[in-house]
Amino acid sequence: MNGPTPETQTYLAHLSRDHQHLRQELLRVASTLERLQDSEQLALAADQLAGLLDFLRRHFADEEEAGALVESRDYCPAVSAEVGRILAEHAELLRLLDRTVAQLRSHATLSAEYLEKIRRDFAQFCQRMEDHELAEKAVVARAFGAVPD
Ligand SMILES: [Fe+2]
Ligand SMILES: [Fe+2]
Repeated sequence: MNGPTPETQTYLAHLSRDHQHLRQELLRVASTLERLQDSEQLALAADQLAGLLDFLRRHFADEEEAGALVESRDYCPAVSAEVGRILAEHAELLRLLDRTVAQLRSHATLSAEYLEKIRRDFAQFCQRMEDHELAEKAVVARAFGAVPD
């Protein structure tokens, strides 16, 4: 293996930028959910989550079409099954987030218990996203020996 080509380096930089943005957004939404008390904040949380969902749809579509993951698979067939497994997680992650947006939008107010459930669900979602992005980082590193942040 000769290491990433300039085109792949561009993909790696793009992946790294998207992942940094994603981490910031997850923190921002988690902090909004923590502060949730009235219906105005409920609408804000739903809007932020919907924005995150849009971003993730684009990010996942990018990863599925071209980019560091697809390149990894083409460059190093040994990682093909792992890349397939990672890409297959996208639909489930989108479904989970979509469900939380719908839950927030379907209530004008939330009971403390329900709010706690939404916070727990989102914390679990953040953990799954983190595992997902770590798996991407690991597979790209395995294929190219290069690790995006
Ligand atoms: Fe992904
Ligand atoms: Fe990703």
